Amino acid sequence: MTSATNILIDKFGRVHNYLRISLTERCNLRCNYCMPEEGIVLRPRAEFMTRSEVIQIAKIFVALGVKKIRLTGGEPLVRKDAKEIIEDLSQLPVELAITTNGILVDTFIETFMACGVKSINVSLDSLKEERFNTITRRNYFSKVISNIRLLMQNNFHVKLNAVIIKGMNDDELVDFIEFSKDQPVHYRFIEFMPFNGNKWDWSKGCSYDEVMADIHAHYGNNIMKIEDAKNDTAKNYRIKNYKGTFAIISSVTNPFCDTCNRLRLTADGKIKNCLFSNSETDLLTALRNRMDITQLIRNNVWDKKASRGGMTTFEDYSNPTLHEQNRAMVAIGG
Ligand code: 5AD
Ligand code: SF4
Repeated sequence: MTSATNILIDKFGRVHNYLRISLTERCNLRCNYCMPEEGIVLRPRAEFMTRSEVIQIAKIFVALGVKKIRLTGGEPLVRKDAKEIIEDLSQLPVELAITTNGILVDTFIETFMACGVKSINVSLDSLKEERFNTITRRNYFSKVISNIRLLMQNNFHVKLNAVIIKGMNDDELVDFIEFSKDQPVHYRFIEFMPFNGNKWDWSKGCSYDEVMADIHAHYGNNIMKIEDAKNDTAKNYRIKNYKGTFAIISSVTNPFCDTCNRLRLTADGKIKNCLFSNSETDLLTALRNRMDITQLIRNNVWDKKASRGGMTTFEDYSNPTLHEQNRAMVAIGG
């Protein structure tokens, strides 16, 4: 095991400097690919990190070399003290980003600006109102669209996430790209991933190759490859002369595990070294017992599997008993 003090490294030499913190398992939407239809069982508040515990744990990660923190959920902004947590975290020497469904952005935009949050990811799985509301099982389409515009007017770096599913929204790829023609938004098309309760079936998924073929059929040689940032999970492209860009995140057909630098902290205070890992380490209980959690974090990272929580083959990946041992996405935090 490494003796370096301010670096989180696994046995494959990957350095982890990006932490995603889930602030809550609750959400004001019910996206069909994320939440089981019946919702998830809400647990007592005492099982979740308090504001002060979030900050204490975040500080320990920062001392271990974390340079970027993204807040996720559920929906992070439904948490009552989300504003205070954002303010506290903005005092740490990290880049702070947020993934949200967009509904509450207008009530938080001043906090984002005051706290130096510049990059916001918003889910936008359809540009058709009725369809968006069917996917999310709620009626917030116009609110989300107006909040996305508000973010752009205020010069935020806005990424829009769409999980592409056959018969759900795979006919909208060109519309998504056209949405980025005159606006500097970055659309990301995500392959549908299996989690507990989301009825995953890869025959419903759209692969990188299929998505690209459709886009190519429409835009042909006007598609330009953009250089991908280090550790980027997305392959990035731009249509000639368009202000925005698009990207494909192909976690199913082309996992990017070898450059992974991410860790996750669940709302109940467990470190998860991969979206798909079933082995979590309970940092919150240890912290409450006044134990030093640094070594627990180091050990958890060291033991990270080479790829997708150990589901190396496509057969493993599509084996329901394996992903049913995992959490629902809403309880992991995208
Ligand atoms: N497959 C792929 N992406 C998912 N997300 C949620 N569930 C899934 C899934 N099953 C993504 C959504 C959302 C982010 C928080 O997580 O795109 O924007
Ligand atoms: Fe909520 Fe995001 Fe899951 Fe949709 S994808 S239900 S917005 S947590």
